[in-house]
Amino acid sequence: MPTSIDVFAKARENERIEQLKAARELGAVPYFHVLEGPTLPVVEMEGMRRIMLGSNNYLGLTGDERVRQGAIDAVNKYGTGLTGSRFLNGTIDLHLELEHELAQWLGTEDALVFTTGHQANLGALGTLLGPGDTVIADSGDHASILDGCILSRAKLRPFRHGRMHLLEKALDRATGDGGGILVVVDGVFSMEGDVAPLPEIVELCARYGARLMVDEAHALGVLGARGAGTCELFGVEDRVDLRMATFSKSLASCGGVIAGAADVIEYLRIQSRPFMFTAASVPAAVGAALAAVRICRSEEGPALFARVLDNARYLHDGLTALGFHVVEPTRLNDGSDVVTPVVPVLVGDDWKAAFLWKALYEAGVFVNTALHPAVPPAGALLRTSVMATHDRTTLDQALETFAQVKQAFESEHGPLPSRQ
Ligand SMILES: Cc1ncc(COP(=O)(O)O)c(C=O)c1O
Repeated sequence: MPTSIDVFAKARENERIEQLKAARELGAVPYFHVLEGPTLPVVEMEGMRRIMLGSNNYLGLTGDERVRQGAIDAVNKYGTGLTGSRFLNGTIDLHLELEHELAQWLGTEDALVFTTGHQANLGALGTLLGPGDTVIADSGDHASILDGCILSRAKLRPFRHGRMHLLEKALDRATGDGGGILVVVDGVFSMEGDVAPLPEIVELCARYGARLMVDEAHALGVLGARGAGTCELFGVEDRVDLRMATFSKSLASCGGVIAGAADVIEYLRIQSRPFMFTAASVPAAVGAALAAVRICRSEEGPALFARVLDNARYLHDGLTALGFHVVEPTRLNDGSDVVTPVVPVLVGDDWKAAFLWKALYEAGVFVNTALHPAVPPAGALLRTSVMATHDRTTLDQALETFAQVKQAFESEHGPLPSRQ
């Protein structure tokens, strides 16, 4: 008898579809807005000049002449696409140079370049973990980490974001699961912009015999004296087994990397399905990423890292002074704090977040809106982020807009969350 169940029914019945329809009618959909030029501190978007506080172009390198030239030279030499996987027919010398330079930068034995960061997480976790193993992940980890864990069919033991006693409890339980254990955390969490307490995490992993992988997507090219990320910042590079990063943020391109011990990387090279069964990243993407890596590793790098963090601090302080509830930089045990380019404004309610986004957008400031599942339920936030290339005049204009919008918004919708 034919089934009466339509697998497409969910496309009609999903509650998000109704919400999207309603938001569309109100002109309050914060997603899929169209850029009409490069992602720079100020962009043309849907017919208007807007200040861009919603990109991951942390160093502003998408507009850098050398990075653009890296892409152009790669297209001129290799054409527009490679039409096959790295494994079979899509490896060019630029992939190998990039892998070599990334391994040097990160101080690892080897590195493997994937077509996207999402695939790098899928390809590492889905290959190194198996059904008998346990993977322990922070609940704030990026979706691609969760996807990799699911792909692997390892036992997943999530722990509540940043709670070290819960990580320890998970490790303790995992030792009874009977397989290998991998802990995987974001170095900088993508939505809240906070930093994983790596010194404590490496200690716990060592105590329980677990391997550790750190996703440096939002930290590479930003944190640490060399810009090598949170592992460098905390001085634990030699105690972290695998490092992942993307090229889609500071490196102004698209692609991902897994870096670590030579034997592990070699194994991924010949076994990782998300590496082997997808087309190699296009020459332009690799050429641009390589040029960006070289800028980060040059004398110019540290000044760029300092500038983006300085801008982040300025925006954080400015928004806090206006009375917004801004996520605080992570405080370290020694009393100092770690600023990252991600400066989130907590809103809480999904609809309020959408309306606040709309008011800012109409006033000429673009920010990102994060709703569940990107953040916990009722934890909606506007994720602002800065570039090294934002100047103070532009940030001041953005702050002025936030001030005006807040006043008008609160008189219509009631108060926004504040710090106390
Ligand atoms: C923490 C983190 N990991 C992985 C990824 C995936 O990277 P990509 O965009 O290169 O696929 C992202 C991207 O948003 C991210 O924020």
